[in-house]
Amino acid sequence: MELKDKVIVITGGGRGLGRSMALELADKGARIALVDMHGADLEITARLCMEKGADAHCFVCNVTNESAVEGLFEEIATKLGAIHGLVNNAGITRDAMLVKAKDGEVVSKMSLDKWNQVIAVNLTGTFLCAREAAAKMIELGNHGCIINISSISRSGNMGQTNYTASKAGAEAMAVTWAKELARYGIRAASIAPGFIATDMVMAMKPEALEKLSSQIPLRRLGKPEEIARTVTFILENDYISGRCFEIDGALRI
Ligand code: CAA
Repeated sequence: MELKDKVIVITGGGRGLGRSMALELADKGARIALVDMHGADLEITARLCMEKGADAHCFVCNVTNESAVEGLFEEIATKLGAIHGLVNNAGITRDAMLVKAKDGEVVSKMSLDKWNQVIAVNLTGTFLCAREAAAKMIELGNHGCIINISSISRSGNMGQTNYTASKAGAEAMAVTWAKELARYGIRAASIAPGFIATDMVMAMKPEALEKLSSQIPLRRLGKPEEIARTVTFILENDYISGRCFEIDGALRI
């Protein structure tokens, strides 16, 4: 797909990886629909895109709310027309050990609240946005592409029972949609970033970050632009579907 003038929706577009994706897509001349819970962050990303001459629009939405997501995609289609791409990037962490014990006694557990919060945003939000985007892509008669942002953690990472479950799900759902939606000309794929220099990773306990970083064969954290460039690579290549791209400095080999 040639990205010039194509409408691409990015959830979690206010900051971090989402902002970097928006700037990369702005360079390609795409029209960008930025979605986030936080309007102020969205405005900054949109301004940065517009400074590059791109058309960028802000939509404040909680992706865990079914009726809000239905309304979101109606509004995007009404304002911008056919939707060509969706990047399911909105995601949160609420890390805790499944069970932590000291001297043979359980001192803490991952709470159900932490589980539910992460599953709601990362898994349910991804499902709802993809469902509504796919329906619009079909209704408006064009082909499209859905990219789920998974994570290296999808294969298991200490302290992340909730996040790993959601990110394994995000990858698997992309495979399901690649199979289901191919008949409508819609592609689906996922990206599994390793440890990228964003606020989410920098908020880790310094000891844990140190431990993990020291294991990265390329000896550095990834840059948000390196994930953003993978997004445009997938969008632009019409024969990519169903695959997960691991961008992790060789951490998982
Ligand atoms: N990898 C390796 N070892 C880890 C680890 C990890 N991811 N997380 C914790 N550990 C180790 C600790 O170093 C510690 O080891 P020692 O007992 O040998 O000192 C042990 O596990 C217990 O950990 P804590 O004492 O820290 O336990 P806690 O209950 O106080 O805190 C925690 C638990 C909040 C989960 C904390 O350990 C933590 O923040 N861990 C990091 C979790 C993580 O990797 N998060 C990734 C966030 S970034 C992200 O998710 C983006 C992405 O897509 C990759």
